[in-house]
Amino acid sequence: MAISYNKRTCDCGTLRAADVGKKEVILAGWVNNYRDHGENLVFIDLRDRGGLTQCRFNVDTDPEATKIARTLRKEDVVAVRGEVISRGENVNPKLPTGEIELSVHEVNILSKSLTPPFEVADHVEANEDLRLKYRFLDMRRRPMQQALITRHKILQSFRGFYYREGFLEIETPILTKSTPEGARDYLVPSRVFPGQFYALPQSPQLFKQLCMIGGLDRYMQIARCFRDEDLRADRQPEFTQVDLEMAFVDVDNILDVVERSLAHVWREVAGVEVPVPFRRMPYDDAMRDYGSDKPDVRYEMKLLDVTEVAGRSEFKIFREAVEKGQMVKAICLPGGAEMPRKETDGLTAEIQGIGAGGLPLCKVMAGADGKPELQTGIAKFFTGQTVGQLIEATGAKIGDLLCFAVGRFADVCKHLNWLRTTLAERRNMIPKDRWEFLWIVDMPFFEWDDQANHWSFLHHPFTMPHTEDLDKLDSDPGAVRAKSYDSVLNGVELGSGSVRIHDMDLQKRMFKLLGISEEEAHRKFEHLLTALQYGAPPHGGLALGLDRIAMLLSGADSIRDVTAFPKTQKAFCPLTECPGEVDPKQLDELGIDLAPAVKAKRAGKA
Ligand code: AMO
Repeated sequence: MAISYNKRTCDCGTLRAADVGKKEVILAGWVNNYRDHGENLVFIDLRDRGGLTQCRFNVDTDPEATKIARTLRKEDVVAVRGEVISRGENVNPKLPTGEIELSVHEVNILSKSLTPPFEVADHVEANEDLRLKYRFLDMRRRPMQQALITRHKILQSFRGFYYREGFLEIETPILTKSTPEGARDYLVPSRVFPGQFYALPQSPQLFKQLCMIGGLDRYMQIARCFRDEDLRADRQPEFTQVDLEMAFVDVDNILDVVERSLAHVWREVAGVEVPVPFRRMPYDDAMRDYGSDKPDVRYEMKLLDVTEVAGRSEFKIFREAVEKGQMVKAICLPGGAEMPRKETDGLTAEIQGIGAGGLPLCKVMAGADGKPELQTGIAKFFTGQTVGQLIEATGAKIGDLLCFAVGRFADVCKHLNWLRTTLAERRNMIPKDRWEFLWIVDMPFFEWDDQANHWSFLHHPFTMPHTEDLDKLDSDPGAVRAKSYDSVLNGVELGSGSVRIHDMDLQKRMFKLLGISEEEAHRKFEHLLTALQYGAPPHGGLALGLDRIAMLLSGADSIRDVTAFPKTQKAFCPLTECPGEVDPKQLDELGIDLAPAVKAKRAGKA
C-alpha cells in the first residue's frame, strides 16, 4: 500500500536524538542528494521547507525500498516511511537533524524531476536570468526560502503592531487614476471606454488621504505599487509599501508610531533592540556633512569644507572655483596614505566617470621634524601657513589621505558621497552589525527646475509647508521647508512621508507656485480637491518600502533576492516572459492599433 503522504508526521527539519526509536515516521520532500554506498546501502538527503533528513536504505532489510531508492535522482519528490535511528559516531554537526537518520522501510515516488539547469544548493553559480526563469527551483534553495520567510515575518509583525495601535487595513484600487509620485505610470487600456486608460497606482497616496477625510482616522495597507522608472538594486517596477495615514496628527505623532513599529519589527524578526526615538537630522546637515539625503552614519569620514584655505592655495583649479563662488570640500581617509598609485589612479578614473573633473588628493606624512606635512598629488600647491591650516581644517593625522572635490554644492556632494561610500565599502570600514536609524527632517519644499523654469516639489504637491515658513512662499520659495521626513537606515531610504495640506486655499497656492494650472490640477486630482472642501481633518502619513526592509534584514544585496517573482533590471520577467505580445483580437477590442514603426520592428523589418 502506498504511503499516505498527506499524513506526514513532521517536516524534514524536526527529528532529533530524542526521537530515536520512533517507528512510524512519514516524511515527504525533494531528493537533495543521492549516495550509493556499494552493495547494500543507499543514502538520500530528503529536503523540505523545514530542513534536511538523511534517509538510509538497506538492501538486506528493505530490498524493495532500496531498489526504488537506486532509481532516485536529485529533485525527485518522494514520501518515505521508516524508523528513527541514531547515527552513532557519524554525527553531522552542521545539520540540526545530524544526530539521527531515518531507516526507510517504504518509499513512494510522488513525482520525477528532469535534471535541473542549476544545482539547488545554498550557493549557486547560475546567472540571475536563469535563476529567475526557473524561480520555482531557485526558491527551493535555503537562502531564498529564508529570505521569503523573513519577509513573511516582517509583514506579520507590521500588521500585528498597527492593528494593536488602532489602524484599519484598507485596500485601495489597483485600476485607478494617475497618482502624484512623479514617476512614469503603467497604463491599462479600458475596453468599455475605448481610448481611455487606467493607471496602476504609484502609491495609494490620494486614496489614503480620502480615507482620512472619510473619517477612518488611522489607515494602513500592505500596498502594491507600480512605477515605470529606471531600475536599480533597490528598485523594482512593482514593489510593496507599508503604507500609513493618520488624522489629527503632526510630524511628531507620525514619527513616533513609525519608529516604534520599526523597533517592534526588528525585535520580533531579528531579535535586536533598537533604541527609540530615532536620531533626527535636518536635511541641510545631512547634505553638508555627508553629501547625501540618506547618509550611512555607521562610519565617519564626513565631508569637510576647506573652501577658505583652498582659495588661498596656489592650485589654480581651486582658486578659480572659489573666485566664482564655488566650493572645495575634502574627505580624510584614515590610514589612506599607504594607498598605492594604481588604486588612486583607478579611483580618479571612476570619479571622472560620474562627472568629476578629476580627483585632487594629497597624503599627510611625517616630515623630517616628525610633524605632519603634505606629500604627493596637489601637496606642492599648499605652502607656508596653508599647510597647517588645511591639516587643521580637516583634522588629518599622519598616515591619512585627503581627497578633494571642487565645484557647485550639488556636484561636490555627489562626488564626495560616491567616494565616501565607495572607500568605506572597499576598505571594510562599515561595521556590519549596526543598525543606524535616522530621520531626515526639515526638507526643502521646492527644488528649482532649470528645464521647466519653475519650482518643482521634492516630495509631492500635497505636502504641508512649515507653518513658520508660510510667509516665504512667494518671496523666497527656496527657503520654505516642508513638513516631510525620510526614514533612513544604514544609507538606504526606507520610507518617506509628510503632513498633508488640508486647506483648499493653501493647496491652490501651492499648485500655482509649482506651475500646475487650475485646469491641470482639477483634471488630475479632482476627487481629492473636491473632498478637501467637505471638512478635511489635519492629516499625514508615510510609506515604508517593505522590499528594502526585507533586503536589509536578510542581509541581501538586492530587493530581487527578497521578492518571490521579481523582474530583471529591464523590467522583464524571464519566468513568464512578460511583457509579451497579445492577440491582435485583444488589441481590436481595446481599439488599439500599434504604431507603424512598432509593427515593423515586431515583424523584424526595422
Ligand atoms: P515614496 O515615493 O518616497 O513616497 O515611496 C516610499 C518608499 O517606497 C519605497 N520605494 C520603492 N521600493 C522599491 N522599488 C521602487 N521602485 C520604489 N519606489 C519607492 C522606498 C520609498 O522610501 N506616497 C508617498 C508616501 C507618503 O507620503 O505617505 C510615497 O510613495 O522605500
